[in-house]
Amino acid sequence: MTGAVPGTGPAVTNTRTHVFLGKGGVGKTTCAAATALHYADAGERSLAISTDPTPSLSHIFELPGRQREREVLDHLFITELGLEEVRAMWDERFGQEVYAVFSAFVDIDYGRFVEFVTSVLPGLNEEFMVDQIRRLVRQGGYRHIVWDTAPLGQTLALLGTPSLLAEHLRMAPRIYSHLRTSGERRESVMAALKRWDELASECMAFLRDDVSFSMVTIPEALAVRQLDGVFAELERHGLRVDRLIVNNVVQTRDSAFLREKAEHQEPHLHLLRERYGQLPIIEIPLFPHEVRGSDALREVALVLRPTLEGVVPA
Ligand SMILES: Nc1ncnc2c1ncn2[C@@H]1O[C@H](COP(=O)(O)OP(=O)(O)O)[C@@H](O)[C@H]1O
Ligand SMILES: [Mg+2]
Repeated sequence: MTGAVPGTGPAVTNTRTHVFLGKGGVGKTTCAAATALHYADAGERSLAISTDPTPSLSHIFELPGRQREREVLDHLFITELGLEEVRAMWDERFGQEVYAVFSAFVDIDYGRFVEFVTSVLPGLNEEFMVDQIRRLVRQGGYRHIVWDTAPLGQTLALLGTPSLLAEHLRMAPRIYSHLRTSGERRESVMAALKRWDELASECMAFLRDDVSFSMVTIPEALAVRQLDGVFAELERHGLRVDRLIVNNVVQTRDSAFLREKAEHQEPHLHLLRERYGQLPIIEIPLFPHEVRGSDALREVALVLRPTLEGVVPA
């Protein structure tokens, strides 16, 4: 497994990873799909990847059913991982060993145990998703990997997971010293937990050093108010946002309805420009139609374009 090779940084493969953050419905999938399409149109092999429980990437590209790493347009691949697949990844790498600890306390069968762990540990799915993306980056098959993330709450959980796990792990030796397991078994459990801890910090380092974050929002009170908290949370983890995308901006005022809507957006836009002016801010117009299909996505890509080119390394 390539994952066992230490010090193999993703930079060697020259893959760029892009992540879109923001609360539900602001346009993350739209921006992720438009970004992946933009690079694919430029002839660069791109993968759009999602763990959204509803297969929204296939919806946006007008494809039937959930897609698994399939080329859907020239140079453009999409993949939608289900919860079961992410669970299987965890299971494969840590399941049996962590189960050995749990089963010393609780009478639970293995299948239910895996289901339990993956459902109660916040962000575990995302952590494994980050690991999965790191593997894809190391394999070097794509020039761009665009991660269409889960909504905000889960995204923050993702960021908290490694430190949360580290905290659990610090408790671990004390727990084991009270356990009457054989010496041999205890060692394998500790080894598994140590590997898991390492995985968590590797994932965090990857997010910090090799991923370009775009924050997506809309000019509405709730969305704008939530941003500060998200930026602060990111900062606490040493993660930097490269640009702010303000979606659904009313840019034509040729009806009473649009004039009024634009007026309502104005103070929020003003606040965003004032507060986050140190970042590149891209405003995407509110379209009169749902953004679906490659033509509509190209319209969005055209708006994103100036800053997309900016994130391509020399
Ligand atoms: N600029 C826009 N103008 C009009 N509709 C938009 C725009 N951006 C996104 N949409 C629509 O809004 C809905 C939510 O967008 P989506 O990208 O799925 O949000 P998220 O992934 O953040 O939940 C979709 O139906 C999409 O087509
Ligand atoms: Mg989405």
